[in-house]
Amino acid sequence: SKIFAYGIRQDEEPFLKKWAGQHPEVTLDYTDQLLTPATAKLAAGADGVVVYQQLDYTPEVLQALADLGITKMSLRNVGIDNIALDKAKELDFTITNVPVYSPNAIAEHAAIQTARILRQTKVMDEKVAKGDLRWAPTIGREVRDQTVGIIGAGHIGQVYMKIMEGFGAKVIAYDLRKKPFLEEQGYYVDSLDDLYAQADVISLHVPAIKETTNMINDETIAKMKDDAVLVNVSRGALVDTDAVIRALDSGKLYGFVLDTYEDEVGIFNQDWTGAEFPDARLNDLIHRPNVLVTPHTAFYTTHAVRNMVDKALDNNLAMVTGKQPATPVEF
Ligand code: COI
Repeated sequence: SKIFAYGIRQDEEPFLKKWAGQHPEVTLDYTDQLLTPATAKLAAGADGVVVYQQLDYTPEVLQALADLGITKMSLRNVGIDNIALDKAKELDFTITNVPVYSPNAIAEHAAIQTARILRQTKVMDEKVAKGDLRWAPTIGREVRDQTVGIIGAGHIGQVYMKIMEGFGAKVIAYDLRKKPFLEEQGYYVDSLDDLYAQADVISLHVPAIKETTNMINDETIAKMKDDAVLVNVSRGALVDTDAVIRALDSGKLYGFVLDTYEDEVGIFNQDWTGAEFPDARLNDLIHRPNVLVTPHTAFYTTHAVRNMVDKALDNNLAMVTGKQPATPVEF
């Protein structure tokens, strides 16, 4: 069988080659280019495609693949929010994602940044770099003194919960789906309002869907405790960034961890040194002492990247050989 992979980065290439070596029966070709209507023809002759990009999988690009007879597409990541699913359905696509490539990668990053915000490490690092070695006023908050509220107790949320418990925090969690362990193990809160009222740290671990879009806004921030910390390593769309900026300005929020940003596509994973920075609002956030910005790198570990490549290729091979893939996307 023939598989064509798009958007292969340098750091993915060794894993891709290793997989190819273990599967001599498969012809595996790839490009570093993303999947667009113009590049779709590169996959001509393939039985399936393996993709990762933040660029939208538009109706046009899906049609271009279908015109080549290709309707089996395997994502190397978890999020499916950038796929024109209605069109995919109409064209009878089967799609897989990698829902669990390394929950630890993302949870660990969230935990590190949470602890850094609470200990004001960005402020202290900057003071030290200038030669100001005084303690005050850069005093920290201990994690064990915080109630940490997790929104979305899936694979990532659960690892984050464990890490925060390791630090001694009280952990509470809310999930739209019934998760019996939340009640059984004492994490359960009835509603998001309860979580907002109790949590000192609020960390988001839900997908971007209609119901979660801008769920963090002026109204929900007003329900939070004063000096709350907000952590978003999930999807930019969950957060009304302007509302968060207002809450940082007013002092309502103590700090903000941002690894995902509403307008990140085309900005993150690009080098802007020596160029005009393209987003004034993001630039403002980057330079705040109580905001930690990372460019969607929570996932970016060797462990995760290896699994993303391997599992996506395994899924695609299963599909193109008429087998059931491990993780099909239901849509
Ligand atoms: C995902 O897996 O959906 C992510 O957000 C990580 C991606 C940037 C590779």
